[in-house]
This record gives sequence, C-alpha cells and structure tokens, in this order.
Amino acid sequence: MSYFIGLDVGTSGAKALLINEMGDVISSATNEYPMLTPKPNWTEQNPEDWWEASKKSIRSVASKVKKDEIEGIGLTGQMHGLVTLDDNLNVVRPCIMWNDQRTVKECDEITTKIGLEKLIKITGNQVLTGFTAPKILWIKNNEPDNYHKIKKILLPKDYIRFRLTGELATDVSDASGTSLLNVPERKWSDEILSGLEIPKEWMPQLYESSEISGRVKKGLCEELNLPEYLIVAAGGGDQAAGGIGTGTVSEGITSLVLGTSGVVFAHSDKPLIEASGKVHSFCHSVPNAWHVMGVTLSAAGSLQWYRNTFHNGVDYSELTKAAENIQPGSEGLFFLPYLSGERTPYPDPNAKGTFIGATVRHNTSHFTRAVLEGVAYSLRDCFELNEGLGVKTDQVRISGGGAKSKMWIQILSDLLNKEIVTLTSTEGAPYGAAILAAVASGKFKSVDEACSSIIKIKSATTPNKENINIYEDFYNIYKNLYGTLKSTFVNISNTVEKYSN
Ligand code: XUL
Repeated sequence: MSYFIGLDVGTSGAKALLINEMGDVISSATNEYPMLTPKPNWTEQNPEDWWEASKKSIRSVASKVKKDEIEGIGLTGQMHGLVTLDDNLNVVRPCIMWNDQRTVKECDEITTKIGLEKLIKITGNQVLTGFTAPKILWIKNNEPDNYHKIKKILLPKDYIRFRLTGELATDVSDASGTSLLNVPERKWSDEILSGLEIPKEWMPQLYESSEISGRVKKGLCEELNLPEYLIVAAGGGDQAAGGIGTGTVSEGITSLVLGTSGVVFAHSDKPLIEASGKVHSFCHSVPNAWHVMGVTLSAAGSLQWYRNTFHNGVDYSELTKAAENIQPGSEGLFFLPYLSGERTPYPDPNAKGTFIGATVRHNTSHFTRAVLEGVAYSLRDCFELNEGLGVKTDQVRISGGGAKSKMWIQILSDLLNKEIVTLTSTEGAPYGAAILAAVASGKFKSVDEACSSIIKIKSATTPNKENINIYEDFYNIYKNLYGTLKSTFVNISNTVEKYSN
C-alpha cells in the first residue's frame, strides 16, 4: 500500500493528514501555535512556531505506517502571509499574516503606481490589505532596517518546504495571492515587480502544484519518521488545495465551503478576470487551469456569533430546529452578515452586520432563520458574480462546519436553485495536498485521475420547487440593502472612531 501526507500550515495550527492510495484517511494530527496581535488590526506569527508544530504533526501521522510505504508529502497553508529571509536565510521579522489590516495606505500606493486596470489585467485582482505585495511596501515604509536585510521572500507553507528540503519555492496557486504574479501567464510579473521596485531575485522558484519541488533532507528523516529523500509536492494555497480536496477540478463544479468564512470556488479552463476585480481570479492547483473565488467573511462565523451572543451557546441543531417552521424569507426579516466587514462582492471593511425588517410578529426563531438566510444570500452574491463571468454550475459540492446542517443546505439549494452534494471526505485543504503528493509521486497520471478515483459523493439535496420563487423575491430585496446602507456604515465607523480612546 502507498501512503501520502498532506500538511496544512493553517491559521491556528499545523495539521498533517495521512491517506492511503484509495483516499482513506489513516491518521490526522494538529499542533497549534499562537497568533500575535502586537497592535489592533495587526496579526503576526513566528515561522519557527510553524516549523516546530509541523514537525510534531508530520512525525505523529508518519509513525502510523511503515516508513518505506510513505511515497510523498504535499504542502498547503494560509495564503498571502509574508515571510522575509536575510542573507543567511534567517527570518528577518515575524510573518505578517493574511488577516492583517495594516496596509491600507500601501494598497493605495500600489494601485496608484501600477494603475487599477493594469493591476487587474495582470494579477487578476484588486490589491487587498491581506495580500503580500502591500506588506513588502509596508516594511519598506515603516521598518527600513528590516527592509534592507531582505534577500528572499516566501509564503507560509513555503517556509516549511524550505526547512524540509532547503528549496526556496512556491506554487502558482499560492503565488496568485501575492499581487506579484501574472495570473494568466502563470509567472512572476516583471512589470509589477519593477513598478514596485521589488527585486525579482527575492522571489521563490515557481512550480505547478502537482510537481516535485524538492526532497526531504536526509538529516530530518529519522526525526520525522520519513523515508530518505521523500518527495515534496509543490502543493497549493489552502483554497486551491481545498478545491482539489473536493474534486473541484473540472468546469461545471463549484465548491461551497461553509466554514467560519464562506468560499464559493469554481474551476475554469481559462483565466476569467472580472473587470472590477471583485471576484478573486487565481491559478488553480490543476496545471493549466484557473479558479474564481468569492469570499463571504462571516458565514458559519455569523451563526456562531449569533448563537453565542443571543442563545448562550446552545447546541446548533437545537438552535436551527426552531427555525424549521418559519416560512422561507423569515416574513421579511433580513440579516446582512457583514460582521467583519466584507470581501465579496463588497470589498468594504466598514460594512456591518445588520438585522432589518423586524416587526412585532418576529420571534427568536425568525431571527435564527434570518441569519441562515442572510449568509445564503451573501453566498448567492458570489455565485451571481461567477455567472456574470460565464461560469456554469451544474453541481455544488458543499463542505465545512455549516454543512452539518441539512436545513442550511436546503435553504442554499432553494435559493441557488441548484443541486448540492456532500462528499465522503470532509478534510479539505490537507486532503487536497495529500492528493497532490500522490500525483507528484506518479501514483496517478493527473490531478483529474486522482480526484475521480478518490473523491466520492455522499448525499444530494435538490431544490424544493415551492421555495424557488419566494427566495428569488426576497433575494432581490437583499441585493439592494448594502447600497442603501453603505454610507451609514461609514458614518457609524467614523463616529465610533471619534469616541474611542
Ligand atoms: C484566501 C484567504 C484565506 C487564507 C487563510 O484568499 O485569505 O483562505 O488563506 O485561510
């Protein structure tokens, strides 16, 4: 039997997953590390913490089978983070993470220097505060001593690759979140790099996700219980690797991850770039394929906030059961899930969570249903943007914690008017990374072949015909709410700021 390891250098911990060649999960281990917040809106992590946690997680799963049967390891992780290395390849400063918001000024600087239209044409996206390029400029503008020490930059999972293999490399899917990649051409953009005065020599070598990027150093094999010179697949950013983990590898399939945030992710055989850059347009972890992606920042996170704030942490099934008898549309009560601002379709840090439409008829069950529906409306916004780009969805593959709720899946199926399926494996990104390792090892000829032999459908939900038109009408009202409230959201932010200490 052959075994493969997927390692996910996530936001809260490093998770290793061991699968066999049939895709069965044999073992899983997670070791956590802290996220540092030296100032409000700043988030940082120490790459050394990732390395210690990654070693423990790899060793734990690798020791479950005979060393020689492990045939590859694939990497995935939180995207966009900036790791800086000096002349001696030592870390210059802690990694500035994907959810850090310090770079508002630098985003404007990049957009002015390059020009919005050109930026979107080359990188497929607007530059967002979480992306990598503005973090480089932030160090230049605020920590010149550190800036002068930089000789190489890496993304989070690629730092682990460096420690495992000594190689300074990344893959095209993760590189897509830097604002420095020419996404249609799958190579670093000379034009953007020179426009921002970032030396090309700083950039790691680019690979396709299923290519071999290096081999585990001999000296580490004993400690990690890995065979000598084990291959390390280039792997992918957590979203693209998650796409592999759900078999979202051909046109017509869209993955919907209903996690803390909600992600609508569709495969495309050609680069699809939305003119205003509202939809993320990245290289996929499938060679010669791209993906478009919309993100609702607070999806299952909205339900968690609502439960903890108003229902004393009751069991989710108990909470949602009471909402089953409420009519679709919650009798006109709406929830806008912008609890942490929003990313798609409104890249707006000032957007706020909102209940609107309450009357004396509404009780707590209406409020619960309105939260489930509000998240669903926001995800539909992402589907609408994809459809505007010509993306066809024949099947939605749902995963993430929120997918445990049959009722939520039914609401989504009715609102999207689409079949939604669940899968037998729910491991997402590390599962996809392990599949990429299996392809890199030669066990499968292609990512497509691996996914079609490994990924299996568990259950299907079809739309309830009676509800389709009702949701269409309520969605049309929801669609206009953000525009109506936009300037009020800004006023609220400014007034809160004025009175904060
Ligand atoms: C992707 C993104 C997140 C992070 C952390 O654009 O911001 O998926 O990678 O998970």
